Amino acid sequence: MRPITAIRNNTAPAPISNEGELSEIIDFSSGLPDPVVFPYQEFQHCINKAIDTYKHQLFTYGDSYGLVKLRRTLASHLAGDQIFAPQEERRAISRLASKYNVYVVGDDYMADLGIERSFEPIYSYNQTSPVIYLKSFSKIIFPGLRLGAMVLPEALVDTYRMIRRYAGTSLLSQAALEIYMNNGMFEWHKNRIASRYAERIRILNAALQQHIAQGWVETPDILSGIYAQFKIPLTVNLERLIEKLAEKNIRVRSGKQFYLSNYLDREKFLRISVSRARSEQINEGIKEIIEEVR
Ligand SMILES: Cc1ncc(COP(=O)(O)O)c(C=O)c1O
Repeated sequence: MRPITAIRNNTAPAPISNEGELSEIIDFSSGLPDPVVFPYQEFQHCINKAIDTYKHQLFTYGDSYGLVKLRRTLASHLAGDQIFAPQEERRAISRLASKYNVYVVGDDYMADLGIERSFEPIYSYNQTSPVIYLKSFSKIIFPGLRLGAMVLPEALVDTYRMIRRYAGTSLLSQAALEIYMNNGMFEWHKNRIASRYAERIRILNAALQQHIAQGWVETPDILSGIYAQFKIPLTVNLERLIEKLAEKNIRVRSGKQFYLSNYLDREKFLRISVSRARSEQINEGIKEIIEEVR
């Protein structure tokens, strides 16, 4: 079996809205987890338990592959995850990766979220192809944990170990996550947050259907995760639109930030996130956006 390792990445997006406030602002801009469902007490308990359980082990640098018990826990968690309907496109990518001997990175950072968890990671189609599988706990628990998991092709393992030798992830985070997963709290929290976001995605889809006749936006089917892209006409001034929405206390993020700066063949779109927009705000927010685009 390939090693599963705890990883850290320091490129978390900056918080945009005030944490924890039930404000009038309709925040469609932030992809951070909803502070209302932050597992504060549960996690506090797991951190205390981790210190009691692991004691002096937590005061070392630790294994660059990650805490052994967490790795085992993650291995069984990921094995349980990968039982969903295959998708032809993903199979094709896996075949092409093998054929041309290139690495494919599967960034499964939205794992566990959405109405339908129907995406089987590319890694699961072909476990001998050069596929790097990444999973993050930033969206499902909280980004400050700085924890994820990675499944690496055999050929990269030694290089990885060399690079990560002295750059380990906090052992306290790893030990707390191990306890959080093994005592069932993670599963409980995951279901709670996933069903909360799924409800918001349903409300978003219903609002689109209700108001779409009032203006012109185009969206793909949104079935999972927390994001929707609203494509708007090229004639609309995107900056002005965002300013006008901000005056109405609606925050959205410009699609411009998601293009490379030298890529000119751009579409205009807004990235809409439901992770911090409350259910009762979504219909009103979508109505305003569509009307403003008109
Ligand atoms: C495309 C993408 N991948 C992964 C992540 C998760 O990154 P991290 O685990 O460093 O928080 C994010 C965070 O927003 C992201 O936008």
